[in-house]
Amino acid sequence: KLARRFPQDFLFGVATASYQIEGAATADGRKPSIWDAFSHMPGRVKGGDTGDVACDHYNRLDADLDLMAGLGAEAYRFSIAWPRILPDGTGWINETGLDFYDRLLDGLKARGIKAFATLYHWDLPLALMGRGGWTDRDTASAFARYAGIVTKRLGDRLDTIVTFNEPWCSVYLGHLTGVHAPGERAMEAAMAAAHVTNLAHGLGVQAIRAERPTLPTGIVLNAMSVMAASDSDADRKAAERASDFNNGVFFGPLFQGAYPASLLEGCPDLAGHIRDGDLETINQPLDFWGLNYYTPTRVSDNPDAAFPHTADAPAVRPEKTDIGWEIEPAGLSHVVKDLYGRYELPPFYITENGACDNTGIENGAVSDTMRLDYIARHLSVAADLVAEDYPLKGYFAWSLMDNFEWAEGYSMRFGLVHVDYETQTRTVKQSGEWYRHLIAAHGKA
Ligand code: FCB
Repeated sequence: KLARRFPQDFLFGVATASYQIEGAATADGRKPSIWDAFSHMPGRVKGGDTGDVACDHYNRLDADLDLMAGLGAEAYRFSIAWPRILPDGTGWINETGLDFYDRLLDGLKARGIKAFATLYHWDLPLALMGRGGWTDRDTASAFARYAGIVTKRLGDRLDTIVTFNEPWCSVYLGHLTGVHAPGERAMEAAMAAAHVTNLAHGLGVQAIRAERPTLPTGIVLNAMSVMAASDSDADRKAAERASDFNNGVFFGPLFQGAYPASLLEGCPDLAGHIRDGDLETINQPLDFWGLNYYTPTRVSDNPDAAFPHTADAPAVRPEKTDIGWEIEPAGLSHVVKDLYGRYELPPFYITENGACDNTGIENGAVSDTMRLDYIARHLSVAADLVAEDYPLKGYFAWSLMDNFEWAEGYSMRFGLVHVDYETQTRTVKQSGEWYRHLIAAHGKA
């Protein structure tokens, strides 16, 4: 029944990211990224885990493509590792690095799976960090060159391309709270990174379009589904500020050509980074955008905190996934309606949604019923949005398989497929079987 609530051309896919699955960290000319450096620093990643081997996907490409085809995935969202293509970030092009993605794209074509590429899923070439990384304006030009090189060599076999995955994470987790690479903790750095990332997006879109004007181009944002902790005036205003700080910082310049006024006022460092013409460059028309949604963001007023002067408010729903994130499917429709109310947005995909469910293998099977239930409930909300005419074109489950979950290392599992990291054995979980049935039923509807 669920399958029939989606139009025929709705796409069901699976998603991954390069550093989380590829491993082969020094193979074929790849040099370190900021995540290699960060994960090798004691105390940064749980258990001291690194992406050195990860799911060894780089060496198991064909088997993993078969796995994907076995699930019936209609589209695959993956990311390209900048440090494989331009190991120094700038300068020489490593054709051997591009060869891997050539094989990936040919393998997808051969299996009839659409290719959704992400240019930046957090693995900045470490060499660029030496000059300030995302806080340095030159990184935006380096990114644009990288975008052009990738589009030129691979663009003929891509179905869509996006510049960034979740700039909120690379900007704020990377530069304000320090839980992600490069581990910086300063509002000044975060504001520089926000603007340079936005600028890189704009320049990147121009570089993609210069190579392939017809390739559908967008960006993936983990827009927060911001909910005020109470109906009080103070909490509702706090939620507005939190929206500006977390969503408006990207949606404003990208879709309206302006940063939110409250952000410019609350974070005075931001203005110093904006040069004439930047906002026009950032405000490129996009063919689509991607929404990653997992959990709502509940906030209350806290005048003592730095901008946006909010505190995290407790979860309302009792259910949580194994990573501790509140399960609230209504947050998905809340954020979509909020954003389409505020901005003029193109069509969108849900480019990530899924649950951490650490259920292990028992008698050769993984009965991850919590994940299955989570995905089913969120897909039901997605179907409601389609019925209400929101331009939702597809859904990607995060993730194809268990992988390196950033600061949580291998301790948190999001896969439809279980990975035994000792043997690299893949086992399709109950949720994976369920997803396969759903896609098959949709195909027949
Ligand atoms: C998102 C990331 C993705 C994965 C999921 C669980 O924030 O884009 O790489 O880690 O969360």
